[in-house]
Amino acid sequence: MVIKPRVRGFVCVTSHPEGCAAHIQQQIDYVKSKGSISGGPKNVLVIGSSTGFGLSSRVTAAFGCGSKTVGVFYERPSDEDRLGTAGWYNTIALTEKARAEGLYARNFNGDAFSNEVKSNVIAAIKEDVGPIDLVIYSLASPRRTHPDTGAVHKSVLKPVGKSYSSRTVDTDKGIVSDVAIEPATDEEIADTAAVMGGDDWERWITALDEAGLIAEGATSVAYSYIGPEITWDIYKNGTIGLAKNHLEESCIRISSKLKEHGGGRALISVNKALVSQASSAIPVVPLYISILYKIMKAKGTHEGCIEQMQRLFAERLFNGADPQLDESGRIRIDDLEMQDDVQAEGATIWPQVTTENLAELTDIVGYREEFLKMFGFGLPGIDYEVSTEPHRPMI
Ligand code: NAI
Repeated sequence: MVIKPRVRGFVCVTSHPEGCAAHIQQQIDYVKSKGSISGGPKNVLVIGSSTGFGLSSRVTAAFGCGSKTVGVFYERPSDEDRLGTAGWYNTIALTEKARAEGLYARNFNGDAFSNEVKSNVIAAIKEDVGPIDLVIYSLASPRRTHPDTGAVHKSVLKPVGKSYSSRTVDTDKGIVSDVAIEPATDEEIADTAAVMGGDDWERWITALDEAGLIAEGATSVAYSYIGPEITWDIYKNGTIGLAKNHLEESCIRISSKLKEHGGGRALISVNKALVSQASSAIPVVPLYISILYKIMKAKGTHEGCIEQMQRLFAERLFNGADPQLDESGRIRIDDLEMQDDVQAEGATIWPQVTTENLAELTDIVGYREEFLKMFGFGLPGIDYEVSTEPHRPMI
């Protein structure tokens, strides 16, 4: 099958197996170029390991720290005449490359919110990994079937308490337009917190603890975002931001539980805004990211997922590093994004952007390149005219 990108709104419905593997290789090469990370974890569980920050966390753990990694994700498998999702191919490539270096890697494709997946993963960890030193919680999901009630909670990206209008961009068509979003109902607020808050993170830690699989001094990290004021109504003060507040409250409880295990800790890392399958679905944010990329590339401070996660591991979590917590106790690996000069430039550009000057004032071209790269397109060394086998069984 010759595989070309087919973009539908904010998703690409095709993905390229060799392209995804080349993308993984780029991430591995980057991590290795930075040298090995001392004091890193031996055994790592990444929940949400197939794309975005979770994927880059797993690459950093395996190839920067030499960790055994267990990955949990929810991806569409390939079959004889149907493409798998990018996360499916990413995981196969990562696993092949890890095992080629003698590194343990095991994968679970299923609903991480379910009791069944938790018990399968825990049984496997018990059988051939042993206590976990690092749990990365990096799920981004539109819905959660509650394991106790069976209720399906759907997360929404809406403002809270007031309607919100701003500008947004159709990243595929390059059209800048105004968007107006009505405030969330109380039920939508609660549903979003049920999906993107910390309840499931806490359940994973409790389940590992009950199985005796929390290592002494273990760390667990979940990811959050704050960003600039122009996005606060839809992000920080919106339904997703309130869910992140819930994640932070859960973090305090998880941290006390981990402390009982030889002084372990749970942390929130506030990451930079970047192109991911999750962020491309948020109104307004892709336009902000296109502006941000332009500014940060010009300053030489631009980072993608792998640069962020390598820095998180090497300069905040391990290597004997000081996590440099903010006044609310969070790691701020979004520090370069939030620099005053970057934000001041962003605020100047924001009101000026139109469909006509989009390419000039923003890095929409870079945004699109990054977007396609997530699906394995536009990677150097891949001949996209050549037919490739879509079916790659999980290993
Ligand atoms: P992503 O969409 O690239 O990755 C989500 C991962 O979760 C994938 O591995 C997917 O397979 C997995 N997943 C989704 N539903 C699942 C389920 N039911 N069971 C098992 N696995 C499931 O997302 P991204 O952007 O990497 O987000 C990860 C975290 O980072 C989120 O908490 C997000 O809020 C946060 N974050 C994202 C930022 C961004 O700009 N992309 C910025 C700062 C924080």
